[in-house]
Amino acid sequence: MTQHTRITASLLILLGVGAASAEVMTDLTRDNGAPVGDNQNSQTAGPNGPVLLQDVQLIQKLQRFDRERVPERVVHARGTGAYGVFVASKDISGLTRAAVFRPGEETPVFVRFSSVIHGNHSPETLRDPRGFGTKFYTREGNWDLVGNNLPVFFIRDAIKFPDMVHSLKPAPDSNIQDPNRFFDFFSHQPEATHMLTRVYSDFGTPASYREMDGNSVHAYKFVNAQGQYSYVKFHWKSLQGQRNLSAKEAEAIQAKDFNHMTRDLIAAINKGDFPKWDLYVQVLQPAEMASMAIDPLDATKIWPNVPEVKVGTMTLNRNPDNVFLETEQSALAPSNLVPGIEPSEDRLLQGRIFSYADTQLHRVGTNGLQLPVNRPRQAAVNYNQDGAQNPGARKGDVNYQPSERAAVADNGQYKYSQLPLTGATQQQGIARTQNFQQAGEFYRSLGKSQQANLISNLAGDLGQVKDENIKYTMLSYFQKADAGYGKALAQALKADTGRVEALAAALRD
Ligand code: HEM
Repeated sequence: MTQHTRITASLLILLGVGAASAEVMTDLTRDNGAPVGDNQNSQTAGPNGPVLLQDVQLIQKLQRFDRERVPERVVHARGTGAYGVFVASKDISGLTRAAVFRPGEETPVFVRFSSVIHGNHSPETLRDPRGFGTKFYTREGNWDLVGNNLPVFFIRDAIKFPDMVHSLKPAPDSNIQDPNRFFDFFSHQPEATHMLTRVYSDFGTPASYREMDGNSVHAYKFVNAQGQYSYVKFHWKSLQGQRNLSAKEAEAIQAKDFNHMTRDLIAAINKGDFPKWDLYVQVLQPAEMASMAIDPLDATKIWPNVPEVKVGTMTLNRNPDNVFLETEQSALAPSNLVPGIEPSEDRLLQGRIFSYADTQLHRVGTNGLQLPVNRPRQAAVNYNQDGAQNPGARKGDVNYQPSERAAVADNGQYKYSQLPLTGATQQQGIARTQNFQQAGEFYRSLGKSQQANLISNLAGDLGQVKDENIKYTMLSYFQKADAGYGKALAQALKADTGRVEALAAALRD
């Protein structure tokens, strides 16, 4: 590599620009390492002739530019990342063997906050659930807790996710998001009533990422050293408190700065005002699962009256240097699990266990988990091999296992826990649906002004629905959740309250 010291420093001082010391310049090169002679003028055939194909600097620059984008995430495209540390505070070794929860253990983390439906540079003021994904670089591999700000989800079976997202994304023929389409879908999903009620409350427009809680939504399994498991839900509680925007406040912010959530997080970290969250867990023993009125593995439900126990605190203290390399290429996946933490049988989670790693093989690439933001603290050692863009340096002729000569072996102490099973395979919904009760409880937990905001936000979108059947079906769900809620919404839409009541009376919770 050639280097030359320029006398630009003294020259700039003479010109009054004020550089303090001599600047060391390195030659600009092409990707093959060869120095570039002119990065300002294309090579042309004489003063008036066309540009030449043989100008390899021009061609390579355009080729690389043409390929700068990888596909944006199919959902959660807009996001911002930060690094930090999680410190475990409670001995829960009776519940889980996970190293990340040994008291005092400090685990580096990377968090990506996001919105869900809208594209990469969409306004952060738009109503949406918010992603709260945390990659823990634990001493036993990476654990990704990929959650949301809201504690429940719209649906309970992964087979519905692509249809739901299609209905929420802009229409394929107009590229415009349309409540006619997503309420058409949701009118067939009474279980979405709870999540819709939360999304259309002001919790659908958080003021900042720092002032937002996070939730696993699903139950996972904690497994202890004896192989015994319990079910666990995770909850991040913001130590900055929770703060949301009304639709009016969101609109006013959007007019001034629609990057307000990203800007806020970066600015706070840059000035040393590090945001913190406590992590809480709720735990249920397998024997308790059958006796609950709800199905505790239904992602449309919270676990009421199950105590929360604080297990540690996370502090975010460093912004990424490069958004693309770190935040965009980060690959958070619910399948990134570590000894002591396993998936529950939640049907939505089971689909996610497959879907994220699969999309990331396509979005980031076959060897994406070797990128700095994704690779584990302890090097991954296995015989998965080759593939596009492989930077690995494996040597030797043994690329199979078991082998007398293999350097690695599986270790029985890390086997998965065992789930007792009976019965036949089936394709059937869950038995304890209870689609409406928790939506009503959430509605009643809101103050009067928050209830009014929810009604006005929801009426704004539901009022655009042209199909009367869809509109009345949706109204009947909210009526079934809470009679006052349904009535207020029907009145806001100038709908026939008698018809809404009759439809709601025919519903079973
Ligand atoms: C079966 C249901 C679901 C499926 C199939 C699904 C699928 C996906 C996919 C394909 C991505 C893009 C991943 C990437 O390109 O890196 C994604 C991102 C994400 N999903 Fe889901 N999702 C589901 C439900 C959920 C639920 C219930 C939550 C919250 C608990 C959630 C939270 C997130 C978050 C936070 C991200 C962004 C991760 C990041 O920042 O990179 N998703 N989802």
